[in-house]
Amino acid sequence: MNYTNLLLEIKENTALVTINRPDKLNALNHLTLVELKNVFEDLRNNEEVFTVVLTGSGEKAFVAGADISELNKLNMIEGKKFAGFGQSVFSLIENFEKPVIAAVNGFALGGGCELALACHFRIASENAKFGQPEVNLGIIPGYGGTQRLARLIGSGRAMEMILTGDMIDSTEALRIGLVNKVFPLDELHTKTFEIAQKINSKGQQAIRLAIQAVKATDKMNLQEGLDFEAVLFALCCGTEDFKEGTSAFLEKRKPAFKNK
Ligand code: COA
Repeated sequence: MNYTNLLLEIKENTALVTINRPDKLNALNHLTLVELKNVFEDLRNNEEVFTVVLTGSGEKAFVAGADISELNKLNMIEGKKFAGFGQSVFSLIENFEKPVIAAVNGFALGGGCELALACHFRIASENAKFGQPEVNLGIIPGYGGTQRLARLIGSGRAMEMILTGDMIDSTEALRIGLVNKVFPLDELHTKTFEIAQKINSKGQQAIRLAIQAVKATDKMNLQEGLDFEAVLFALCCGTEDFKEGTSAFLEKRKPAFKNK
C-alpha cells in the first residue's frame, strides 16, 4: 500500500514505520492517523514482519503533537470524535500482537508523547524531548496521555508534566522510566534495530503471548493476571518452539525456532 505521510521499510523481519511530515515536525493530522491505522492493520497480517519500529522523519522531531491547525477548528461534538479516533488508533498500537518499539528521535510532544506511550517500549535519542503541552492550548491530552503517562511514570510525575506543560529531556525521561535507553541520534536506528533483531531471534509465539500477559496488568488485578499468565504459559507448552527451545538448551545448541 502507498502512504502519503508514512514511509514503510521492511528489513529482516522488522518493519520501520516513519511518520513523514518533517516540515510540520511530523504533527499528526487526520490523514496520518488513518494511515497509521492502515499500516498497523496491514502489518498485523504480514507474516514476514515480527517487530515494528515507529519513528519520525528528520533529525528534529518524533511527532510534535496533534496537528494544531485541525484542532483549532473543533467544536465540542467534533472534539469527542477527534479524541475517540486518535485513541482507537493508539489502542490498536498498544494492543498490537507483535512488539512495537518507539524510536524517539526528537520532540515527542502532546500526541507524539502519547504515541510513544502507546508503543510497548521506548528508545530515545539524546536530543529527544518529551512533554504534554496541551494546557498551553487550553485543552488536556486526548489520545490517552492522562491514562498511560500516569500508569508508566506514576501519578505525581504525570500530574507535573500535564499540569505545567513542561518538556523533559532524554536524561530525565530515562531517569523516570519514560524511556528504556538513550543513544546518540546517529546511533538510534542501528541500536533500536539491534534490539528488534534480538526479539526477532526468539520464538515469536512466546513473544506474542508475553505481550498479552504483560498488557493484562492494565486490565486485571494480581490474581486474575496470574491466572491469565498460567493459561498463556500452558499455550506456550503446546508450541513446537517450546519443544525446540527446551531441547536445544539440553542438547547445548542454538534453538532453530519456526514460530509455530
Ligand atoms: N501542529 C501543527 N503544526 C506544527 C505542530 C503541531 N503540533 N508543531 C509544529 N508545527 C509546525 C509549525 O507550525 C511550523 O510550520 P510552518 O513552518 O508552516 O510555520 C513547523 O512545524 C516547524 O515548527 P516551529 O514551531 O517553527 O519549530 P521550532 O523549532 O521553533 O519549535 C516546537 C519546535 C516543537 C517547540 C514547536 O513547533 C511547538 O511548540 N509545537 C507545538 C507542540 C504542541 O503544542 N504539541 C501539542 C499539540 S496537542
